[in-house]
Amino acid sequence: MKKIVVLTGAGISAESGIKTFRDADGLWEGHDVMQVASPEGFAKNPQLVLNFYNQRRKQLISVKPNSAHFDLVKLENDYDVTIITQNVDDLHERAGSSKVVHLHGELIKSRSVVNTDKIYDCIGDIKIGDKDTQGFQLRPHIVWFGEAVPMLSKAIDIVAECDILIIIGTSMQVYPAASLADYIMYNTPIYFIDPKPAVSKTKYNNLTIISEIATKGMKTLMEQL
Ligand SMILES: NC(=O)c1ccc[n+]([C@@H]2O[C@H](COP(=O)([O-])OP(=O)(O)OC[C@H]3O[C@@H](n4cnc5c(N)ncnc54)[C@H](O)[C@@H]3O)[C@@H](O)[C@H]2O)c1
Repeated sequence: MKKIVVLTGAGISAESGIKTFRDADGLWEGHDVMQVASPEGFAKNPQLVLNFYNQRRKQLISVKPNSAHFDLVKLENDYDVTIITQNVDDLHERAGSSKVVHLHGELIKSRSVVNTDKIYDCIGDIKIGDKDTQGFQLRPHIVWFGEAVPMLSKAIDIVAECDILIIIGTSMQVYPAASLADYIMYNTPIYFIDPKPAVSKTKYNNLTIISEIATKGMKTLMEQL
C-alpha cells in the first residue's frame, strides 16, 4: 500500500464547532494565546490556564467528528494512512483513524509539571492541588509556545517516507509543525486543502491546492486520488 501522511490543523475541526486560532485574530477562544499557551502564562496565572483547558475539554464532549475526519478513515481502505495533527482535540481518534500522532499534545491527558513523561488520562477537570505520583502539580498535556515538541523527530521520519502528503486546515504559522512538509522526498505529491491556503505554489514542486473547506475539499481530493 502507498503511504499517505496527513498533516492537520485547527481548520479540519472548524466544521465540528471548534474554533480555529488565526481566524479569530490570533485569539484562542477569546484569550491572548501567550496567556493560555505558554509556560510564562501558566506561571503567572495557573488557575486561568487550568480553567481554559478544562473548558476546552468540556467542549470536546459536545462536538463530533465531521465528514472530513471520517473520509480520512475511509482512505485507510486503499492506503497506509498516518495522521500528524497539530490539534489537541480527539476527533481523529473518535472518527476511527488508526494512526494518529499529536504534535502539540492532547486535551484528554494531563501531565506532571516536572516529569514530562508522567502522562495520565484525563477526562475531567485539572485542579490546583492535583498531583502526580511524586507530589508534583498536574498540568494539561499540551505543548505550549516555547516548549520542545517531543513527537517532532518521529513526525519527521514519518513524513520523509510518505508517497503522498495531504495538508488540511492549517495556517502554516506555528513552527516547527509548519516545516514538516519540507521533509518529503523530491517530487512527492502534496494536496493542500484550506479555504485560505497559506502556501506558495513555487515552494513545492508537485503541489495541488484545493481552496475549499475541509469537508468539501476531502471529497474533491478523494475524486482526484
Ligand atoms: N481543534 C484544536 O485542537 C485546536 C483549535 C484551535 C487551536 N489549536 C492550536 O493552535 C494552533 C493553531 O495552528 P493551526 O495552523 O492548526 O490553526 P490556525 O488557527 O492557525 O489556522 C487555521 C486554518 O484553518 C483554515 N480553516 C478555517 N476553516 C476551515 C475549514 N472549514 N476547513 C479547512 N480549513 C479551514 C484557515 O483558513 C486557517 O488556514 C495549533 O498549534 C493547535 O494546537 C488547536
